Amino acid sequence: MRPRNWWDTAVIYEIYLRSFQDSNGDGVGDLPGLISRLDYLNGQDDSLGVDAVWLTPLYPSPMFDFGYDIADYESIDPVFGTLQDFDELVAGAHARGIKVVMDFVANHTSHLHAWFQESRAGRHSPRRDWYVWRDPAPGGGPPNNWLSVFGGPAWTFDEATGQYYLHSFLPQQPDLNWRNPEVREAMFDVIRFWTRRGVDGFRLDAIDHIAKDERLRDNPAAEGELPPESTGYELLEHLYDRRHPIIHEWLQELRAVAEEDGTPRMMVSEIYGLEPEAVALFHGIDRPEMSMSFNFDVLQAPWDAGAFRAAIETFAANLPPRIWPNVVLNNHDQSRLVSRYDWDGLGEARARLAAMLLLTVRGAAFLYYGEELGMRNGIIPRERLQDPVGIRHWPLNSGRDPERTPMQWTAGPTAGFTSGCPWLPVNPDHDRINVATESNDPGSLLALYRDLLRRRRETPALLTGTYEAIDAGSEDVYAHLRQDGTQRLLIALNFAPEERHASFDLDGERAAIFLSTRRARAGSVNPRHLALAPLEGTILSLE
Ligand code: GLC
Repeated sequence: MRPRNWWDTAVIYEIYLRSFQDSNGDGVGDLPGLISRLDYLNGQDDSLGVDAVWLTPLYPSPMFDFGYDIADYESIDPVFGTLQDFDELVAGAHARGIKVVMDFVANHTSHLHAWFQESRAGRHSPRRDWYVWRDPAPGGGPPNNWLSVFGGPAWTFDEATGQYYLHSFLPQQPDLNWRNPEVREAMFDVIRFWTRRGVDGFRLDAIDHIAKDERLRDNPAAEGELPPESTGYELLEHLYDRRHPIIHEWLQELRAVAEEDGTPRMMVSEIYGLEPEAVALFHGIDRPEMSMSFNFDVLQAPWDAGAFRAAIETFAANLPPRIWPNVVLNNHDQSRLVSRYDWDGLGEARARLAAMLLLTVRGAAFLYYGEELGMRNGIIPRERLQDPVGIRHWPLNSGRDPERTPMQWTAGPTAGFTSGCPWLPVNPDHDRINVATESNDPGSLLALYRDLLRRRRETPALLTGTYEAIDAGSEDVYAHLRQDGTQRLLIALNFAPEERHASFDLDGERAAIFLSTRRARAGSVNPRHLALAPLEGTILSLE
């Protein structure tokens, strides 16, 4: 299948806005800061060359969950800037060929949103039914056994009206009642507000939570042991608190609204913990639904050639034919890759191999700010924790601050992120891991990313070609072929921290080295006897 939409083969760069670039010295990243960094992302010779940015929520918010608790869907939080700044960002991005994707938080609002204020004002408030209110259980206590993703019960008692309200996340994030058609209409209007401002797509936050069991039945207990960092949410099997099949109807409507002006828009859904067959259903059967869903299977894979290959291929094999796959290695909720695969100190070398994998397999690639530099998890002293998850569960779970530390632009005291005190500490490794230093080092990870991105853009086989795995004769080597017409590339990725010999059953004695994670490697090789250095990835041109 040839790509039909811009997002099918796009590189989409996630910007955690609080941490990207501060412009006014308050220690928090903002829109003017981001605008000043657009050339880094695309439009100039030495730009990274990404196709789109996904901005984490920038709406007015009391920031209990740092923007994922929205108090007004149709404005910008003053800490991030103004609507005028936003328009300027869209114009500046579009002028550089960068699409703009917004985060859309549909499951819940902030408890300070006017809708919830009205809803909680009284049992007979016209907006009471915009949220999920229930009487206490017959003997007292919460109406059912549902748990919050972040720990504790999913219900909070409201003294004034004598009922509980539902929150799948923090008590400051009450769940909207999507079964109420007025709520759906209000959410559709939010989509319209932003598409009129030129937005090219949406990332649908925790979207599977919007559809619950109509009778709010108890969830059954889960089997198996709790992971050590668990918030307790895994104690139950989440049968009834999310993913009611009615969700497909609602998301199909949402997609239609997003494109009602005739412009195709990307809709990517965040759904954790589903088998690829179940994720595939979110793309719609008779009507378009999501344009894509994050493939989190790669992000959660152990460091193993077979596991990575299976995570990529099983996900892709389940998708409807018109939907292109994608790869995600990092985001604002997950430990950074360099730290995740660093038990023996080789995380940085693994990041080079991961970069080659991310940008050579078929489909879209998500890139999280700083991933291209090799940023690792920050070390956050307890007293500087910001994330409510970390504050509640420290030290078993230190929350998500480590992957949200300021972007490392320079080796200077605050890494060029702010002239003030950064909201989260800058990682001390920014003396070495930063844009300025890495830009001057042809052997840096940033240089490799720039090279990979450029070649991907310029090489049809890599961008839009077919994908086929090929046996490498070593279980530590994940190898695949990308082909477009007569252009054929072989990508061989050695996951072992030792040398491996790959042997490919191919015609021809010599193949040119197109690119290697080992910069010094050039010339040509015999694909029947290919020696790969520890954690080396190499692209061969078989033309
Ligand atoms: C999603 C977001 C996460 C947020 C949660 C609640 O999982 O990625 O950061 O805390 O939803 O909105």
